[in-house]
Amino acid sequence: MNKKFPENFLWGGAVAANQCEGAYDEDGKGLSIEDVTPKGIRGPITKEPTEENLKLKGIDFYHKYKEDIKLFSEMGFKVFRLSIAWTRIFPNGDEENPNELGLEFYDDIFDECHKYGIEPLVTISHYEMPLYLAKKYNGWSSRKTIDFFEKYVRTIFNRYKNKVKYWLTFNEINSIIHMPLLAGIMTPADKITKSEIYQAIHHQLVASALATKIGHEIIPNSKIGCMVIAVPIYPLTPDPEDVMTAFKADRENLFFTDVQVKGKYPFYIKRYFKENNIDLKIELGDEEILKNTVDFISFSYYMSACASSKSEENKKSGNMIMGVKNPYLKESEWGWQIDPKGLRYVLNTFYERYDKPLFIVENGLGAKDELIEDENGNKTVIDDYRIKYLNDHIIEIKEAIEDGVEVMGYTSWGCIDLVSASTAEMSKRYGFIYVDRNDDGSGTLSRYKKKSFYWYKELIETNGESL
Ligand code: BG6
Repeated sequence: MNKKFPENFLWGGAVAANQCEGAYDEDGKGLSIEDVTPKGIRGPITKEPTEENLKLKGIDFYHKYKEDIKLFSEMGFKVFRLSIAWTRIFPNGDEENPNELGLEFYDDIFDECHKYGIEPLVTISHYEMPLYLAKKYNGWSSRKTIDFFEKYVRTIFNRYKNKVKYWLTFNEINSIIHMPLLAGIMTPADKITKSEIYQAIHHQLVASALATKIGHEIIPNSKIGCMVIAVPIYPLTPDPEDVMTAFKADRENLFFTDVQVKGKYPFYIKRYFKENNIDLKIELGDEEILKNTVDFISFSYYMSACASSKSEENKKSGNMIMGVKNPYLKESEWGWQIDPKGLRYVLNTFYERYDKPLFIVENGLGAKDELIEDENGNKTVIDDYRIKYLNDHIIEIKEAIEDGVEVMGYTSWGCIDLVSASTAEMSKRYGFIYVDRNDDGSGTLSRYKKKSFYWYKELIETNGESL
């Protein structure tokens, strides 16, 4: 391969507030839906925060962020993706004034990043809807939520306009189809209709476009992106019925980027709405707001999936939230199928469709790690499996760059071990840095460098040439 990563390629890592910060009730923070979902983002919801919920303490990033950012800088990070917990800024979501202590916390984090020349990449909302808004307004089901969100984004754009240039609106906005709770929708799963879900999606899309507009006004040099979960859907067989099923399933996801990048509802959605009895309430002015399109597309990539038109195939175990398993692929200990080539496929598909820069803001292997002592008595993890996973995926990014795709950067998921989102476990680890905390909550919270820490450091140092 002769094509190189661009000189200014943004190498780094990513986390989300609710999975790492802990300090769930400190310095005026309010409760978010994450504080009452101890088993992960699919629920169930508990009445109060319960001790079994590992997210309440996370990895204590709230108090240890200086140590962690220093370790990121040691690896040579150019960018650090993190999210702001909405409930640190507006504890219930509907307050008149923001919580100064919450604002200060992120000021300190951004200052710390800049101290090391690390550019923050901030997700405005990463599954952290204030619980109060979820309970009182049913989250994004309500149009009112747009107003609360607008206030929140104005506050953070104004506050951090000189510190943050790269922003993402909603984390994995398309995951709402499969997990409405993430959008604060409390309607029980058996009662929720497609109409309700798409109305909530409309509100989020308007809110996202509004945030993009406001961001561009307040921070003229900002780059604001959308963020989707990218799962390419292949037909399970060459049967044209399977091909069409896969095509439709893909579109269900592409719908989100179509709106956020092209600034309007795509032509094909009308038929989908009609066939599913979806009658959206679109207010005057919404279409104008949607025209505020994003500057780049960011996405998470963990796996691909297959689609089948046959119901017996669909009954077999699925690949996480979407599709049927691919007989050609191996899977992680959590059953997520590993498909590095799918990443090149996604990069090319998005670029061809949108002609906009792309940013891979999540990718990684959740695996069980064993902490051992090396010959010098230092604790470490020999995580060759993680190195292989990352290596194979990054090679495909290089291929896509050679194909001509414009890629801005790569932030591997969970650059430091944190609580997993889908299952709220500590034992599903993604990091280059091991955190001593266990599923039962025990552990010293000490940090240890894994073998992959040094591998990633070298990769960044050589701008990908060490692959
Ligand atoms: C993405 C989320 O879906 O996947 C992250 O944006 C999450 O928050 C990541 O942690 C990996 O999922 P999990 O369940 O293994 O943590």
